[in-house]
Amino acid sequence: MGNKVMSKDKKGGSKKLWGGRFAGATAASVEAFTASIHYDSRLYKYDIAGSRAHATMLADHGLLSREELEAIVAGLMAIEAEIEAGTFAFRQDLEDIHMNIEKALVDRIGAAGARLHSARSRNDQVALDLRLYLRDECDRLVELLDAVRRAFVVLARKYLGQVMPGYTHLQRAQPVLISHHMLAYYEMFGRDRERLVDCRKRINIMPLGAAALAGTGLPIDRQQVADLLGFAAITANSMDSTGDRDFAIEFVSCCTLIQLHLSRLSEELVLWSSQEFSFVDIADRFCTGSSIMPQKKNPDIPELIRGKTGRVVGSLMTLCTLLKGLPLTYNRDLQEDKEPVFDTVDTVSASLAITAELLANLVFNTGRMEEATRTGFMTATDLADYLVLKNVPFREAHGIVGRVVAFCIEKGCELIDLTLEDMGQFSAVIGKDVFEVLSVQGSVNSRISAGGTALQRVEEALDLAEYNIGIRL
Ligand code: ARG
Repeated sequence: MGNKVMSKDKKGGSKKLWGGRFAGATAASVEAFTASIHYDSRLYKYDIAGSRAHATMLADHGLLSREELEAIVAGLMAIEAEIEAGTFAFRQDLEDIHMNIEKALVDRIGAAGARLHSARSRNDQVALDLRLYLRDECDRLVELLDAVRRAFVVLARKYLGQVMPGYTHLQRAQPVLISHHMLAYYEMFGRDRERLVDCRKRINIMPLGAAALAGTGLPIDRQQVADLLGFAAITANSMDSTGDRDFAIEFVSCCTLIQLHLSRLSEELVLWSSQEFSFVDIADRFCTGSSIMPQKKNPDIPELIRGKTGRVVGSLMTLCTLLKGLPLTYNRDLQEDKEPVFDTVDTVSASLAITAELLANLVFNTGRMEEATRTGFMTATDLADYLVLKNVPFREAHGIVGRVVAFCIEKGCELIDLTLEDMGQFSAVIGKDVFEVLSVQGSVNSRISAGGTALQRVEEALDLAEYNIGIRL
């Protein structure tokens, strides 16, 4: 949008829409301090959609004539076109998007425009706009989340059967399938999706008609407005309608979890692309170089996503603090809700979009990952489980394997390198079937418990994921 924000009407006048009881003009410093038009202009589409629905309802209930309604709708459409073309002059002295549009309408169509604000206040109007806006953003974010989830499913299919070390405490723990690791993220982002869909239910309730705070005596039909705008229901209490922002906090908290999950993924990508790990190669076009060190290829995208998590968490704190201690109903403080909400939407959308792209171009160094599973005694638990199946109590088995590992460390070898005689010193029940148990593939494929990393389980999980994400019918 190329629209400019101007501090004054071109004609120099600045009579306020609420100016009736005021004798003097507003100080310029106050206008600058109280204005929100430089950010809430983003809501123009929703403000106009809300006004159209409101006007239609007013006309159906005799509060506007048919001609007035037609003039209002045509005027609003013309204003919308101007804003979209970037030729609309937003005015700071008109504070916010609601009054900028209303004033432009009155200037354009005269008396009819002045009737639009019947049975409405900016307090319920701004609540309506924000709900309409966030409803759309929930849908957009769900699509972006699905693109990321799909990318994980594609990676899981591509690398099915390949192994990597699974970690706890960032120490090599047990071998797992790369696909199992990918599907772990698929699950995380699936919960994020569920949360957004659920949050949308509480956003999708229509507050208009609460007017300033107490409702209105004019004969309106709130349900009609809700139907016209596709809301599932109307809010039940006019005071709550204007004072409530928990839907916005809930939305930002859903976004915070998405960004936290992206940040955990980013941390792994930073680690995995380091020379120390060398598990992945991030495509050149997703990396940048150093201005001084010619050899560098830096994983800036995941680093920035990790860094941007701070602003999303910050926005959540901003909103929580904004609501804390706020008396019912509307208070001007609430105008401070929009910037953190908008910044969250922008940050999380951009992070999700670039993550989907990055994942689609990610290449795993499977040789290196497999090699990493062969050191670090990663099948030690398998050996303990083997002893349990030979009737050794688990605690005793744990002690035996601990001693076997210490022996290996001393010899400078891995479990798989031991002979039967070596192991025989520690337990008499170890037979030659132990070697299958000590192999990486044997270890992975033994983990057949529901949700485990055995190939068979991961294939089932992958089939289901492909079905759910729409890759498989
Ligand atoms: N710009 C205001 C906001 O974002 C709109 C509501 C203002 N209402 C009022 N009575 N001043 O919250």
